Amino acid sequence: MCGVIGYVGAGASPSFFLNALRRLEYRGYDSAGIAMLTADGVAIQRAEGKLSQLERKLDQLPAKAKVGIGHTRWATHGKPTENNAHPHRSGPIVLLHNGIIENYRQLKERLVARGYQFLSETDTEVAAHLLHDEYKKLTSGTPEARMRSALRSVVGQLKGAFAFGILCLDTPEVLYSAKLGSPLVVGQAEGETFMASGITALVEHTRQFMVVEDHEIVVLKPESVEIETFDGQPVTRPFQRVEWSVAMMEKGGYRHFMLKEIHEHPIAIAQTLNGRVQRDSGTINLTDLGVAKLPLKTLSRLQIIACGTSYYAACLSKYFIEATARIPVEVDLASEYRYRASTVDSKTLVVAVSQSGETADTLQAIKAARANGAQTLAVVNVPGSTIAHMCHAESLTKAGPEIGVASTKAFAAQLTALYLLGLALAQERQSLNDAQLRFYVDELVKIPSLVERSLGLSDSIERLANRYHHLSSLLFIGRGPQWPIALEGSLKLKELSYIHAEAYAAGELKHGPIALIDENMHVVCLAPRDAYYEKTLSNIEEIKARGGRILAVGQENDSQLLQLADDFIGIPECSETVLPFVTAVPLHLLAYWIAVRKGTDVDQPRNLAKSVTVE
Ligand code: AGP
Repeated sequence: MCGVIGYVGAGASPSFFLNALRRLEYRGYDSAGIAMLTADGVAIQRAEGKLSQLERKLDQLPAKAKVGIGHTRWATHGKPTENNAHPHRSGPIVLLHNGIIENYRQLKERLVARGYQFLSETDTEVAAHLLHDEYKKLTSGTPEARMRSALRSVVGQLKGAFAFGILCLDTPEVLYSAKLGSPLVVGQAEGETFMASGITALVEHTRQFMVVEDHEIVVLKPESVEIETFDGQPVTRPFQRVEWSVAMMEKGGYRHFMLKEIHEHPIAIAQTLNGRVQRDSGTINLTDLGVAKLPLKTLSRLQIIACGTSYYAACLSKYFIEATARIPVEVDLASEYRYRASTVDSKTLVVAVSQSGETADTLQAIKAARANGAQTLAVVNVPGSTIAHMCHAESLTKAGPEIGVASTKAFAAQLTALYLLGLALAQERQSLNDAQLRFYVDELVKIPSLVERSLGLSDSIERLANRYHHLSSLLFIGRGPQWPIALEGSLKLKELSYIHAEAYAAGELKHGPIALIDENMHVVCLAPRDAYYEKTLSNIEEIKARGGRILAVGQENDSQLLQLADDFIGIPECSETVLPFVTAVPLHLLAYWIAVRKGTDVDQPRNLAKSVTVE
């Protein structure tokens, strides 16, 4: 979704705003704009398309400004044109917005009736005129006091989600914002303060961050950050130090962020394990995992809710958690969960899995779970994200910043965190004895090196992609834990290469999908030597008997599978516990290399956003 950046301090150049917006590009966008306020007034430059279009206009902005805001827009209302790009101006007010104003039509009618001229098709312009209208009504008090009061009035009239960036020509060294439902962080350095949709925009300027929570208004000045609730109650909140570096956000010599992040699967898993597994004692450190406060011993069931790739990580963890912790695990799409009749109680642990920690569907689902009395746990990758603040407990996946829109290393880290949750439950509920628990702890510790080995498949998969990039459709099949991996592999292929792909539990093939099989249908079949191996071989025979083509993913020395398959990807020998982590890698690589061969925008696929903050 949209990127927001704001600055107030000694002075920032146009390239400060452009570079900060570049760090937010992964959020997905289709136009951009910057506004800078100087003694001569406000200068605004906007452009349709990528930031390179806006860059051509930077020389029309002042060299420096004490206050400024910038925006990348992911269209919710109005086409991606310069006119619809943010920021929008109304009198002394200049405003930009991440989110969606659901009642903008009613407000717009009222404002038009009061004589306001609308220049864009956006919902955001309504907020600019509304704030101007409320500000004009106030005739006493300082401009800043009037802006605060006007902003309080405006947020009480809006329905939807918003994180604003606002400047006012009458208060030349103040920046304002208000937040509900869309992410906003504040950063502070010597003599300057910042706001942004995500910490990645600011890491090169500060490590000191504070998360703005829902129903809060923020007033930024060069030396101070003041927060109050929508009803005017002051809020104090400490800054936190975040250990993310600029280097972590560069491509590091890789062609795309996505390729770099696939190769970071091992380190993402290792960092997520670090401090949580205690190898000497063969136990799990509940405090480091973030679950010590939860009543793990007395829970009756888990409900895991997520979207997209995070949902597939949740589906996969069900097999492991039920097998080790012996507790029922339901997995739900967040967008469906909140509309089902809730059956949660205080003995239900609802786990929200989200890389961004800002996904609106997941946020609303966890709100519903809390309202119904559930215990809640956030498994998120971005420190201090909104979903984490919404839950009773937070278990960070330590994948580091994931810039590619398609989730890769975060998927591996999510699996790791969920497997650790399963062992934490098993430990507390004693569903595993000490020896069994130690076995699994030792298995988890092996994963990074085995995944490292499977990354060696990249060159052979790149060659394979040359024979698959022209296809218009592909099927993925797997059994047991390999079924969610098949689902994840088909999503990756769809979202990166725009090739249609579907995934089925292999046992389901004969219940309908097998009608699709003929000599034109290629099937990616996950067939490692696990408990389902023999049955999966039967599936392969059924497909071949109907002329289908098989790309098999199996153990590297499986000569029988090599004979059967038309194409073969051999993964290193490993235990069943580790298998899903290892088979995910070739599917991520396959999707990546096919997309590269097709020439699609691998790091920012069309229509997608890294963090979907609208429902
Ligand atoms: C991942 O490749 C997808 N781009 C998408 O499905 C993503 O997993 C989904 O939007 C959920 O995002 P989250 O993990 O940030 O909540």
